[in-house]
Amino acid sequence: MYYKTEIRALKHSNRYRKREYFSDDIIDCASNDYLSLAENEELLKLTCKELQKYKTHAPKASMLVNGYHKIHQNFEKALCEANGFEDGVILGSGFNANIALIEALTRRSDTLFIDEKFHASGQLAAGNVSGEVIFFSHNNVSDLREKILTCKSKRKIIAVEGIYSMDGDIIDREIFEIADNSDAILVVDEAHSSGVIGKKLMGVYEHFHIKIKPNHIKMGTLGKAYGSFGGYILASKHIIDYLVNRAKPIIYATAPSLFDTLLSHKALEYILQNHKSLHVSIKKRQKLVKDILDIECAGLIVSILIGDNIRVKEIQQELLKKSFLVGAIRQPTVDRAIIRLIVRVGVDENILKKLLNDISELIK
Ligand SMILES: Cc1ncc(COP(=O)(O)O)c(C=O)c1O
Repeated sequence: MYYKTEIRALKHSNRYRKREYFSDDIIDCASNDYLSLAENEELLKLTCKELQKYKTHAPKASMLVNGYHKIHQNFEKALCEANGFEDGVILGSGFNANIALIEALTRRSDTLFIDEKFHASGQLAAGNVSGEVIFFSHNNVSDLREKILTCKSKRKIIAVEGIYSMDGDIIDREIFEIADNSDAILVVDEAHSSGVIGKKLMGVYEHFHIKIKPNHIKMGTLGKAYGSFGGYILASKHIIDYLVNRAKPIIYATAPSLFDTLLSHKALEYILQNHKSLHVSIKKRQKLVKDILDIECAGLIVSILIGDNIRVKEIQQELLKKSFLVGAIRQPTVDRAIIRLIVRVGVDENILKKLLNDISELIK
């Protein structure tokens, strides 16, 4: 009754997880703070100073009551401008943004085509939609094309990620063409691509020079490269209008935190101002990974298949002894255990080199 059997089963299969506190002294190569903005003191100071100018420092209510603040509106505008979208809405988290999108967009007579490796938030929402849900093989253009061609639904929605969170691979560009040619709405989750790729580091739409069309939707998180917390959805005016009227995480939740929104806005400005030097740092890290581990990285995620739940934790512990923290990811997040290493901008190149060499020895 009290889930003791379930916990025992998790422990037995080496899938048991717990929250752990790590010392500030470890070298963080596990988090998604891609650009080290979560440690940027200047952004923190600017945010605190500016927030003090306002009467309230908390959102107090849903955006649709009186929780909508100038800070929210300014940031939504800035995101739209930077990404070339007509309209946008911010939410309390990326998880909520995916729930909002998948649940609200897939109506009774619609069909949702979702990549089998789409984030858990989208998969959770897919389980609750009234329309049809079709999973397609991971990043597999022919499978998607075949499935979409035989679909009779008037409205089709495709859900994919820009860079996949666990494999670290990039969306196949042809998926944009399939969506446009089949008149499908395309949702791209840019949690791991925004802030990492594209000329101004805005993500895959920019990276592939995609001209934004009314069927395109971009979803992002502010808890990764932006070093803050929250999520956003960018789309055409009528889609945003529809979501604001229909998506439960927008309607029935307190508006996003003012502090986090302002901090995210400062982060966006920082990224746009510093995109050239950030690009250089990202490229250097990708080259190090290629030289030492012979892995091509689309972004800053290095995914190393270990395939053994005990061994993956051992490797993580070995590295921890040397003060390196990397992710040891097991089921159900992935099918087979991986070491997930983030070659963050901000971690010194020589230190990264040492870590990559240590990993190379451990996986021999
Ligand atoms: C691909 C992807 N989408 C969505 C999310 C959820 O974003 P957030 O952490 O802002 O809730 C994550 C975060 O883990 C993610 O990896």
